[in-house]
Amino acid sequence: MSIPLSIKWNNQKLEILNQQKLPLEVEYLTLETLEDVYDAIITLKVRGAPAIGITAAYGLASAAQHYNTNSLDEFQQLLVKDALYLAGSRPTAVNLAWALERLKGSKPLTLTVQEAKGRLLEEAISIHKEDEASCRKIGEFALSLLGNHTKVMTICNAGTIATAKYGTALAPFHLGKEQGKKFQVFACETRPVFQGSRLTVWELQQSGVDVTLITDGMAAHTISAKGIEAIIVGADRIATNGDTANKIGTLNLALLAAAYQIPFYVAAPISTFDLTIESGKAIPIEERPAEEITHVAGKQVAPPNTRVYNPAFDVTPGRLITAIITEKGIIHPEYNKNIVTLLRTQKGEES
Ligand code: MRU
Repeated sequence: MSIPLSIKWNNQKLEILNQQKLPLEVEYLTLETLEDVYDAIITLKVRGAPAIGITAAYGLASAAQHYNTNSLDEFQQLLVKDALYLAGSRPTAVNLAWALERLKGSKPLTLTVQEAKGRLLEEAISIHKEDEASCRKIGEFALSLLGNHTKVMTICNAGTIATAKYGTALAPFHLGKEQGKKFQVFACETRPVFQGSRLTVWELQQSGVDVTLITDGMAAHTISAKGIEAIIVGADRIATNGDTANKIGTLNLALLAAAYQIPFYVAAPISTFDLTIESGKAIPIEERPAEEITHVAGKQVAPPNTRVYNPAFDVTPGRLITAIITEKGIIHPEYNKNIVTLLRTQKGEES
């Protein structure tokens, strides 16, 4: 698979693929300051839950290299302040907070400041590497679950450019291609900012996967007219009961899957689970600027001063999800029980 990587870490330099410029231009941006990192995340130059977590981890570790103190206490205070700042860039994807927490917790208090600086960089690199391995595993599990199904619908971009590599919902298509499996993917364009048409269609074309673009409103008709056999999506935060926040429009697809009696799969690494919340009601939903809806490619498409509601995500109830595919295995209902069991087993393995 030779799709440009979303994040590169070379000689202590953080570079991201500028997703705002895709599909017309492949451009890398160097993020030098914490403010650069914050801006890249909030303006969707880097996006997708795992990718923003990795970027924030490198951003925080890089910023910490410049803390001018020999006191570990003061070092920790500066780290907490900067982590809080980055965490405010996008509220829904829990991978962002998860990565920052991992960095904050990565240094035993016995270290010197110099050692702590090194430890932070090592932790960011681990988060990056682990995500690639997780996504590959998710792809393998998803391939086994999709079985003979070839006509699959997706929304947004939960692909290689939204992660370290391979993606989550798109991983089975990339891996399937390598193994000679012929998928026919139908990609919803994903209004308002077109992650489906600009990113998913581009990414799957790079891999040589058969992909067809539809507008979001065509999903029901397409499921019926083209015989869609399954839907697979990514996730930004999954609650203990399986309720899943993902790109706005995902809930529509889950309801359609139930109506047409086809499976609806969520693919996500365990860093996307939030066991501190019981249900999707507690997931903060990011609201984005009105201009994303009133303007398309800089051109105004709604009357001036139109009142706009622009939630970036919706929450699909766990009861509409056939299975959740993680790097540790496939979780089936009942989610309340099975999510906790899988994540606890995972924690047991690590300790
Ligand atoms: O607003 P975005 O483009 O960051 O939204 C991304 C999604 O909703 C993805 O499906 C999700 O983050 C998973 S990416 C592997």
